[in-house]
Amino acid sequence: MATELPASVAEIIASRSGEEMALNDRCLNPQMGRILRTLGFDRVWVGGDGAHLIDADGVRYLDMFGGYGVFALGRNHPEVIAALEQVMAARTANLPQLGVTLLSGVLAEQLLQRAPASVAVMVPANTGTEAVEAAIKIARAATGRPRILFAEHAFHGLTLGSLSINGNAEFRDGFGPLLADCGPVGFGDLDALSRELERGDVAAFVVEPVQGKGVNLPPAGYLAAAQELCRGAGALFVCDEVQTGIGRTGRFLALEHWQLQPDLICVAKALSGGLVPIGAVLASRAAFDRVFDGMERAVRHGSTFGGNDLAAAAALATLRVLEQEQLLARAERMGALLLELTEPLVERYEVVGEVRGLGLMWAIEFRAPAGAAARALWQRVERRQPGLFSQLITVPLFHEHQILCQVAGHHMNVIKALPALTIEEAEIRRFAAALEETIAAAEHYPRALARFGVRMGARAAAARR
Ligand SMILES: Cc1ncc(COP(=O)(O)O)c(C=O)c1O
Repeated sequence: MATELPASVAEIIASRSGEEMALNDRCLNPQMGRILRTLGFDRVWVGGDGAHLIDADGVRYLDMFGGYGVFALGRNHPEVIAALEQVMAARTANLPQLGVTLLSGVLAEQLLQRAPASVAVMVPANTGTEAVEAAIKIARAATGRPRILFAEHAFHGLTLGSLSINGNAEFRDGFGPLLADCGPVGFGDLDALSRELERGDVAAFVVEPVQGKGVNLPPAGYLAAAQELCRGAGALFVCDEVQTGIGRTGRFLALEHWQLQPDLICVAKALSGGLVPIGAVLASRAAFDRVFDGMERAVRHGSTFGGNDLAAAAALATLRVLEQEQLLARAERMGALLLELTEPLVERYEVVGEVRGLGLMWAIEFRAPAGAAARALWQRVERRQPGLFSQLITVPLFHEHQILCQVAGHHMNVIKALPALTIEEAEIRRFAAALEETIAAAEHYPRALARFGVRMGARAAAARR
């Protein structure tokens, strides 16, 4: 029987709250439902406030996941909400298409003022992957060359072009054939990059300054040298700052840590405060002019909603809040504190291999315990279910400490955090203490694994029902 369409958002929230999982299982992604039920993460979320998510019982969870990094300002920042309301109230002439608008113009001006001198133009988009797609197209058209290089373990989005430069097989498998002429080089491997560039057919090398999957930091000198090599070979140097940009690493763009001057810079995610989709490529004048080189070519790349008023207004509010609340300095300070509190875990627990981070992009990597029996068990379990140990940490963090954080990628024992840049010092300390308590319990590996296995087994059986 057809259900009635409620008259308003308020009515939907009032009358159908609690149906989320049933709707998901029926109309969206039931496999996601199974994961959530198996891990016990199937909360009914009713609100978001700053660094926290709130469930139907009013319990506040510290959100170290940050919606994959979009909530740099925290959830529902009042300034961003006010900017969106102002656009609605102004009844703006949004998306004239055969016409230009004020808000995206001011956004372009403001973004470019905060970007390195190498870029001079903004190409609007709606998501991170759309920005990357634009970068691939601009690079090919600007250089007249086919090949795009990317780093192993890179993540640039999941549409077909971006997927073609994705360094993780688990995302690529089954979707081929992907774009021709895309090839990986090791992240940090300048010799490999140089060898590939020597072929003379490379349009661009696309790289995340800090890799999101695993939070891999670049070796000292790597990015600047890679940029030099690209310049020397006539290839564009492209920084994907979709995750690292907009204050995440303690700088407006992470590339500032190394004074890079890329030809193209992709931004998205946190740029609009997490409330509306956004993306953009900041491009050098030379690259842009080679692509859009005549009136008849003025619209050869674009997107219907690119540069829309809501996204532009939210982004302008985000830039204002970053400055008003001094969030770059705060991200640097809180990130340093998080490292200071968690780096000693490497010495204290044999299962902790490394703690790393830049600003509020942070990760902890686990490794097999030293004892022969525990190590053998770890290896057996990881062979069957790679990355399982991380779940021994994230699940208790959620249930016992009300902290949501993410495993940093498939088949890796790395947990990652991208909290709001507004996070309070007390919450950083709470996270570090909860993490240590959870690691201490998980280190008694066989016992912890058995406990976890029984709990997950029961939940998985229930999730299938
Ligand atoms: C570095 C990077 N580039 C691109 C993307 C794709 O962004 P979106 O999911 O908005 O398409 C992501 C998303 O996680 C990312 O981390």
